[in-house]
Amino acid sequence: MEQNQDKLKEIISHSKEYGFIFPSSEIYDGLAATYDYGQLGVELKNNIKAYWWKSMVQMHSNIVGLDTSIFMHPTIWEASGHVDAFNDPLIDNKDSKKRYRADVLIEEHLEKIKQKIDKEVTKAKERFGAAFDEDQFRATNPNVLRNAEKILTIENRMRSTLGANDLEGVRQLIIDLEIVCPVSGTKNWTEVRQFNLMFSTEMGSVAGDASTIYLRPETAQGIFVNFLNVQKSGRMKIPFGIAQIGKAFRNEIVARQFIFRMREFEQMEMQFFVQPGEEMKWYDYWKNQRIQWHKNLGLGDNNYRFHDHIKLAHYANAAADIEFNFPMGFKELEGIHSRTDFDLKQHEKFSGKKLQYFDTVLNENYVPFVVETSVGLDRMFLSVLSASFKNEALEDGTSRIVLSIPPALAPYKVAILPLIKKDGLPEKAMEIMKELQFDFSVQYDEKDSIGKRYRRQDAIGTPFAVTIDHQSLEDNMLTIRHRDTMLQERIPIASLAAFLTEKTGWSSLLKNLN
Ligand code: GAP
Repeated sequence: MEQNQDKLKEIISHSKEYGFIFPSSEIYDGLAATYDYGQLGVELKNNIKAYWWKSMVQMHSNIVGLDTSIFMHPTIWEASGHVDAFNDPLIDNKDSKKRYRADVLIEEHLEKIKQKIDKEVTKAKERFGAAFDEDQFRATNPNVLRNAEKILTIENRMRSTLGANDLEGVRQLIIDLEIVCPVSGTKNWTEVRQFNLMFSTEMGSVAGDASTIYLRPETAQGIFVNFLNVQKSGRMKIPFGIAQIGKAFRNEIVARQFIFRMREFEQMEMQFFVQPGEEMKWYDYWKNQRIQWHKNLGLGDNNYRFHDHIKLAHYANAAADIEFNFPMGFKELEGIHSRTDFDLKQHEKFSGKKLQYFDTVLNENYVPFVVETSVGLDRMFLSVLSASFKNEALEDGTSRIVLSIPPALAPYKVAILPLIKKDGLPEKAMEIMKELQFDFSVQYDEKDSIGKRYRRQDAIGTPFAVTIDHQSLEDNMLTIRHRDTMLQERIPIASLAAFLTEKTGWSSLLKNLN
């Protein structure tokens, strides 16, 4: 854990040093839980957005995009339930004065018991070797069974207290489990209180006439209120989806861990409208699609796992997270929610307008059910950065920092490096760069030794670097160096664009998704 926290610190300082992410308002000592994306960060972020948009919208003929406003009619948030129910249960430790989410404290306690079970299984696996039957062991070992029973009891109490908004019951559970504050180590807890996460502001310039409006806490509602606009104007037939990328705002109380939990962040959400009764089929379908999308990046299949929700959001009848193995451990990266017909029905009720679909196959009107996929863009960014960041020891005794970012997502696809700054080499290099710039993001660098320039490109994740030398002027060939293997090969200048398309183009990443 210690080591992992160190890795997060290394990533944070690397991000700043190379222009991926800066603390917001830094010259004024920063603003908590807000960050700015720098010159390389914005490229990586745009590429992650493009990966999502292309795979969701471009590659699905029944999914279309949308871009709705951040400010919306305030009644939308009453209808959606966010005014009443978008709360976090908070608890303070009286000694450390630190504030925690009560549900997270309990979930972390559950995670520790799960780890005990895993340890027991690993030990037995080592003891019994090839003859080990894990399923049988889990079903019969007394220690495993005792801990599994504990988990079940805690989950049940958690579900019933949180579900009934029984805040005293939630506190009692924390006390009964003897959960201590990670900072003070004491059990001196306050009562649990609900805290609404929406930011509000005023619209209108005349005092008294101004009305309170909210900064959207999710992009999804912009999709729901436009459901009929899109369905009718696009002549969409169920099942179909509407996708959106945009900013969301939450007054997170416990906002830390870099860009993992911010107060202003971006979501990539898709609402998939289905026939009532078919939602569980589509829920399973999208769970599977989305985990494949993540694994397709090649950051390591073991870095992903599902976590089914115990505490369901007020709109869902089933929900699961895709968790990623961040430097701080496995944490939520994406949510897949079966939202039923809750949102559309609520908007019907509050707006007085019908939000129904006429199904020509069934010959009937209904309010569709919705399956949602929702992934945080900033968390995606952190997952790519943290899995790509490597401090490698090299054979010659030196080391290098390399970001092995999937080539299609890398900020620059290729670096153009004239071997020296004279003899017409820079001119030739510039000529090559000008040709490539239409289709690829390219960096030109002529400063320092070639070794130093390679290291700089490794540190920002450029998958290829090409060197133009005196020989290139004669034979129109160049040396191309591969970031990950550091191997070099000589190829004709005329084939460079095709090489880059094959290795870094969108189809190199998207072709396995079909
Ligand atoms: N429309 C459903 C919804 O908003 P959510 O689970 O609250 O569901 C979806 O959020 C995703 O948005 C999360 O899985 C996470 O990736 C991202 N997210 C949520 N809160 C965030 C925050 N404070 N900072 C960064 N990303 C956040």
